[in-house]
Amino acid sequence: MSLKKAGSGFVGLCPFHREKTPSFHVNAERQIFKCFGCGVGGDVFSFVMKHDGLNFPEALQQLAERGHIDLPQSEFSGAPRGEKAKLYDVNKWAADVYHRCLVEHAMGKQALDYLLGRGLTMETIRQFRLGYSPDGWDGLAKGATKRKISHELLQMAGLLTSNERSDRLYDRFRNRVMFPIFDAQDRVIGFGARALDDSEPKYLNSPETPLFSKGRTFYGVDRARQAFRDVKRAVIVEGYMDAIAAHQYGFAYVVGVLGTALSREHVQLLRRYVDEAILLFDADNAGQSSASRSVDAFAVEEMPVRVATLPDGLDPDEMLKERGAKAFSDCLDAAVDGFAFKLERALAELPAGADASSIARAKALDDVLGTLALLPNAVTRSQEIKRVAARTGIAEWTLEERLNTMLEGQRRRVETARPEEADAGLARDAEEELLFALLHYPAIAPIIRERLSLERMEQPAVKALLKQALELAESGQPFGAAELLARTQDEALRAVIEPMVEPESHNVEDPSVWCRQLVGRIEARTHQDAGRKLHDQIVAGRTSPANTDEELRARLTAAREAQRLRGKLELKKQ
Ligand code: UTP
Ligand code: MN
Repeated sequence: MSLKKAGSGFVGLCPFHREKTPSFHVNAERQIFKCFGCGVGGDVFSFVMKHDGLNFPEALQQLAERGHIDLPQSEFSGAPRGEKAKLYDVNKWAADVYHRCLVEHAMGKQALDYLLGRGLTMETIRQFRLGYSPDGWDGLAKGATKRKISHELLQMAGLLTSNERSDRLYDRFRNRVMFPIFDAQDRVIGFGARALDDSEPKYLNSPETPLFSKGRTFYGVDRARQAFRDVKRAVIVEGYMDAIAAHQYGFAYVVGVLGTALSREHVQLLRRYVDEAILLFDADNAGQSSASRSVDAFAVEEMPVRVATLPDGLDPDEMLKERGAKAFSDCLDAAVDGFAFKLERALAELPAGADASSIARAKALDDVLGTLALLPNAVTRSQEIKRVAARTGIAEWTLEERLNTMLEGQRRRVETARPEEADAGLARDAEEELLFALLHYPAIAPIIRERLSLERMEQPAVKALLKQALELAESGQPFGAAELLARTQDEALRAVIEPMVEPESHNVEDPSVWCRQLVGRIEARTHQDAGRKLHDQIVAGRTSPANTDEELRARLTAAREAQRLRGKLELKKQ
């Protein structure tokens, strides 16, 4: 991106959201950036992580390579770095060989005709580096020998395989159209391969290798990356051909999953780029139940998802070819919320005309309630319950009871529904605010040290950071957001600091007053905890009858005490 000098720093157009006037600020001295338009900020690692969709170790590695800095190998798990690099190389080599077989050699003619016959242009074929794996058993193996590439390495990359009876290695992919699978950094990590005839399986994928895992890979993410960032939305289809066709028709934010439902890892990856995903799976039963399972992964990760339904049993590729781009985008626009999709599906599967089949009814809803139980947020959960109640005519409280049974064993989550939730939230916000205040007003460090006992803090990440900052302060070292960021590799901790980065200093009239208020809010939680305990006792008291007058009197006292404490708290907040 291009930056212009402005004042003491630099500004430019933010690459993370669309804008016409620059609100992306860089402070060279602090080595940080901040966009006032969309709020993202951080250091160089944050930038590369966000921009290229990498995790911290990957960003570190990429920057190290660029800066010609050798990283100690122990930093990374899995295969040693040298081995991975060799596997990337061998995959790239194989992709090139397959591509040339398709576009330059006579033996690829049938495969090329097949692809052109399916409506792909030469340009698309080149962009996706599609290829052809020759018939025969040792085409690739022989080529590798010529290039002094070891067969062992090819086997590790999943390109050669052996059968149980003999140890002899032979080509895994034979007489197939090859779809190289690229990661977000444009490296070939594996292959999908489609049969040209009726051989089984129709699609053969690379096995799991140190580079390739179906459960966290999207086909086409390399070409979708920029569009993700522009439109903040991803569309997920099931097939290689579906993804390619979509790109050819101009829908660059479409990626494919590789014959699996989406995993949490898939969702985490998407979240680095987009705000929302739309599932566009085949209309057949397999596609629909895969969509249904995928919605669960989004629920756990609290990421918005919608499901689009294709008409007349078409798959996305057929839809585009038969009805065109407009029909395709209409179909996306008509996507319904993932949870509503699950509900309708469950209702559609209900055995007809049956009040006798109330068991079947409950069972069908159990699946829906199971997804609800995955939602970490109690408020969202109760909104969804309302929706189910309205749609099914089953009383809200019945559904709630059923859901609560499901939630048992996950007591932590149920607890958040208690009336003190708002207070607890207030104190948690205060923890982050206090860290923010400290990072920007070093002078308040002594006040915090004196007035706050760190064990009062409930958020481990914020607590750890506050502790670190206070230690730095004590030893006389600088401890602003940039310094803390530079010391932190843990992504959860970095996520706490990044929004606190500020390119310019700003002024609060009297930071020490602010600081005292924040400490007060955090310390006040001790009182709330007492109140909460009593609240629980009262609730328990309502459900089990008191045995003696003594007990009754004790409970009344407890109730009064709880009320008093809560009242006190109200006063404090005002
Ligand atoms: P489909 O059977 O729906 O095929 O598989 P498709 O994508 O429409 O393929 P074309 O149009 O006939 O070429 C959907 C996806 O499921 C995975 C592949 O990723 C495929 O793209 N799959 C399918 C396999 O992994 N193995 C198979 O044998 C079949
Ligand atoms: Mn198809």
